[in-house]
Amino acid sequence: MHTIPTQRTTDPMRLKQCHNFKDFRRLAKRRLPGPIFNYIDGAADDEITYRRNTAAFDDCDLVPNVLRGVADVDMSVTVLGQKLAMPVYCSPTALQRLFHHRGERAVAAAAAKYGTMFGVSSLGTVSLEEARRISDGPQVYQFYFHKDRGLNREMMARAKNAGVQAIMLTVDSIVGGNRERDKRTGFSIPFKLNLAGITQFAIKPAWAINYLTHERFRLPQLENHLKIGGALSISRYFTEMLDPSMSWDDVSDMMRDWGGQFCLKGVMSVEDAQRAAEIGCTGIVVSNHGGRQLDGSRTAFDQLSEIVDAVGDRIDVMMDGGAQRGTHVLKALSLGAKAVGLGRYYLFPLAAAGQAGVERALEIMRTEIERGMKLMGCTSIAQLTRKNLRFRQ
Ligand code: LAC
Repeated sequence: MHTIPTQRTTDPMRLKQCHNFKDFRRLAKRRLPGPIFNYIDGAADDEITYRRNTAAFDDCDLVPNVLRGVADVDMSVTVLGQKLAMPVYCSPTALQRLFHHRGERAVAAAAAKYGTMFGVSSLGTVSLEEARRISDGPQVYQFYFHKDRGLNREMMARAKNAGVQAIMLTVDSIVGGNRERDKRTGFSIPFKLNLAGITQFAIKPAWAINYLTHERFRLPQLENHLKIGGALSISRYFTEMLDPSMSWDDVSDMMRDWGGQFCLKGVMSVEDAQRAAEIGCTGIVVSNHGGRQLDGSRTAFDQLSEIVDAVGDRIDVMMDGGAQRGTHVLKALSLGAKAVGLGRYYLFPLAAAGQAGVERALEIMRTEIERGMKLMGCTSIAQLTRKNLRFRQ
């Protein structure tokens, strides 16, 4: 484990009382203005996929083995050429500075401390260069494919110079999902709130003071290229700046330019997974973007076995969406995922308590995975197989 000092911003007693996802979510809700909480918590349309993402794990039961000598458990995995000390990672997510003033710095430091991977977003509020300096541990750079090819080339060149090892290209965001909570609050950057949204900020003065007394909000990956006048909503960014004509040929070109570990995030069909493997991607993340894009989309967990069967022997298949417990992760790994991405799972702790919050959430997850492996009779991730799963009808 690396030793990066933890900066505390929330009453440690409150943090100690957080034992699971729901506790962190509750604490984040107390701290954040409603529009920001709802940006993290919300999803597309009727949020059916979002709810189903976590519920899907409950349709599958674990069948443990006993008496296998489980004193020492090795929960390390290797994905995209990088060794992770545990089989979960912090997925790239946008705008972290809004959730806590240290934003990505806090998450990168916490992930490094736990020896796991951290994703820097194209919509990150800390530069990829700085993220690289904070942690030389496992990292991916999440990439959106913009209409502005100059911006794409510049981002790729910067990533190479910064020593980024793996690119994660998001492919499920060709247009913005219909996030009705954001429409209701007027969530955008800079804030262009409606009356309801302003009221919600007014009742969280501590957040507002903290926000205003720290460095200003920036999007350093996109600086000088933001061509959207007025307020930037995520939906406008996706719809106006990303290239809806992005195709497999574009991905092949990008991979050729990059020449290293390259992964697609947001693959759901077997055909696409096969195509990704054929063109030389080294990994895919089976994902529905936390239910934030296409509502009604199947869950990654439900879709995982088909994809692992099709390409799991050729490329690294990861998944994200809805994992809140160590046992959720064990179920995904038993189906053949190499690692599981976390999103809201670490964002609520970030909002609640910065780096200390993310560290506590990762510690809880690490402990749950280790305990779960012991109770399953497994000492390595490879021992988790489908033999130990049963799906309810
Ligand atoms: C979102 C994007 C930015 O889901 O990933 O809001």
